[in-house]
Amino acid sequence: MRVYFVTSNEGKFVEVREIGKMYGVDVEWLRRRYLEPQGSDLREIASLSAKILSNEIEKPFFIEDSGLFINALKGFPGPYSSFVFKTIGNEGILKLMEGVEDRKAYFLAVIAFWDGEKVLTFEGKVEGLISREIRGKMGFGFDPIFEYNGKTFAEMGDEKNEVSHRRRALEKFFEYLRNMV
Ligand code: IMP
Repeated sequence: MRVYFVTSNEGKFVEVREIGKMYGVDVEWLRRRYLEPQGSDLREIASLSAKILSNEIEKPFFIEDSGLFINALKGFPGPYSSFVFKTIGNEGILKLMEGVEDRKAYFLAVIAFWDGEKVLTFEGKVEGLISREIRGKMGFGFDPIFEYNGKTFAEMGDEKNEVSHRRRALEKFFEYLRNMV
């Protein structure tokens, strides 16, 4: 089975392609940027982005929007994760977290699938901790500061794909696709 994934983020695409293989789904990359409306709800942002993109893409496709939600920062950066990563980055987050004991955080991924007629969404979440320093070289984005079972995602390599928010959302999506054919 083949499905098109629209993203400009190569790190994301590589993960999604690998997870697709586990489910027998061939994920094709439509490499392009798209308009992401601002908002406070990832599901709404992803749905709206897919809806807008559906005016330009003929075939069924999906996008994925994710964010890092930090407990002590009341869910920040959440839906603003992309901007925050580009501006203050991992060092900036660690600075904001200096002296903070509550390190709890989670990643949320929302997949929005345009099936040719409507948008369907699938969510995945993984809970972890914000590390006290940057650790690891693999992965992308906030991976070097997000700890799961003692290791950061950037130290986990392929193991990240067993437990990540993206894996959990894709699992639901690919199950859905499998039941459609
Ligand atoms: P977006 O979904 O492309 O808007 O991503 C939001 C931000 O979160 C970007 O800066 C990504 O680098 C970051 N991000 C998304 N998923 C992950 C992940 O699995 N690990 C680390 N950072 C991520």
